[in-house]
Amino acid sequence: MGKFQVISHPLIQHKLSILRREDTSTKHFRELVNEIAMLMGYEVSRELPLEEVEIETPLKKTVQKQLTGKKLAIVPILRAGIGMVDGLLSLVPAAKVGHIGVYRDEETLKPVEYLVKLPEDIDQRQIFVVDPMIATGGSAVLAIDSLKKRGAANIKFVSLVSAPEGVKKLQEAHPDIDIYTAALDENLNKKGYIVPGLGDAGDRLFGTK
Ligand code: PRP
Ligand code: URA
Repeated sequence: MGKFQVISHPLIQHKLSILRREDTSTKHFRELVNEIAMLMGYEVSRELPLEEVEIETPLKKTVQKQLTGKKLAIVPILRAGIGMVDGLLSLVPAAKVGHIGVYRDEETLKPVEYLVKLPEDIDQRQIFVVDPMIATGGSAVLAIDSLKKRGAANIKFVSLVSAPEGVKKLQEAHPDIDIYTAALDENLNKKGYIVPGLGDAGDRLFGTK
């Protein structure tokens, strides 16, 4: 079974509380999503492999460490996942970015995929899938299905707020992936919203409602 980790750093918890507030503006919401994604990135990248290399400082030759292994791809689930990309790119600027478009049908809550655009060598990459919300888990499961169909094998899922039901569904469908979240909330309401949650992440991020 992959890892499931709630990243509870004080700075993340503080920023997340502001993010949840109803009166937080679109501008501030956008900034906070990126800041939290960046802070989570430290933890999510903790196990990236290192290799020893010989370098020369102005004083002498020395053996030091640098990143090695698979190159990274960041894959946001549209729309709301886009809000987390810049925060992670500030840590790993050379990462490629793929996109998977999924929306939830408002009546059935079933996910519908409408776009997949990935780096050609996605099967060779360590992938960070990002989406602020895991509610029923349907969108996350579909996005990972889609990636695996294209050969992706090394996948970590990074979310901000998750519902226990959604995490369970994702773990059952894809037990091999690691899941990171900043908060595991209480439950889902009848409309499939996470409670207490933060509302509709895409609408709050883009100001569409
Ligand atoms: C939101 C969110 C997730 C999904 C989670 O996207 O960003 O992708 O809902 O819900 P689930 O776990 O029940 O599938 P939404 O469908 O609202 O699309 P949007 O980002 O384009 O607004
Ligand atoms: N999608 C969101 O954006 N928010 C929720 O609470 C549930 C799904």
